[in-house]
Amino acid sequence: MRKLIAGNWKMHGSLADNEALLSAITAGLPPAPGADVAVCVPAPYLAQVQALLHATPVAWGAQDVSAHERGAYTGEVSAAMLRDFGCRYVIVGHSERRQYHGETDEIVARKAQRALAAGITPIVCVGETEAQREHGDTELVVKRQLAAVIHAVGHCVTEIVVAYEPVWAIGTGRTATPEQAQAVHAVLRAQLRAAAPGERRVRILYGGSMNAANAAALLAQPDIDGGLIGSASLKAGDFLSIIAAAA
Ligand code: G3H
Repeated sequence: MRKLIAGNWKMHGSLADNEALLSAITAGLPPAPGADVAVCVPAPYLAQVQALLHATPVAWGAQDVSAHERGAYTGEVSAAMLRDFGCRYVIVGHSERRQYHGETDEIVARKAQRALAAGITPIVCVGETEAQREHGDTELVVKRQLAAVIHAVGHCVTEIVVAYEPVWAIGTGRTATPEQAQAVHAVLRAQLRAAAPGERRVRILYGGSMNAANAAALLAQPDIDGGLIGSASLKAGDFLSIIAAAA
């Protein structure tokens, strides 16, 4: 299966910086990259990114979507609006949304449903905090987070992408070892297989301080199907190196 390397720009960028970054990335990519590539950008830049990327192998997406279809929800962005701007992906349930915006497993599941209904692939983030890992609760936490989405989307679970992002590894430079990551990916794989037996393989990405130096070892693990890249996706050279490691 082709791996997916998705950048999460988080709240970074400007019109000028985005143009420079994307032109460096597209110039450095082979015409037919050996992995799927995407960037998930702040919503105000979707029109710019669509214009810059529509004729390239790089897909684009958003970092969040409303759990509601439409209506009086000031500040929210609907899945249909993301579709209007050609988004192929949207991140849902990133730990920064769960932590700073109170997103529960149920809200995340509804966001995944909304994305799928609009024809957009949700990248569903799961991951434990450092305290949860120390208490031996890693498996319990990620399975609970994924179960809520599986329950909500039913047979459409084969259309999602999962991203395992240990919270303690995000933006810290403390990457999970390939063995630590693989162990959790195997748990998620088993859960997905049980939910959709015989169905096609769901991609499970790793995220958390993945960079040009550690990407190859992580991506060599049998159940790691790509990466969700934060800070390293803001540097064209690093992002291209990770894409090359996935090819
Ligand atoms: O969504 C991306 C993750 O939060 C990883 O961020 O690569 O900066 O650790 P990071």
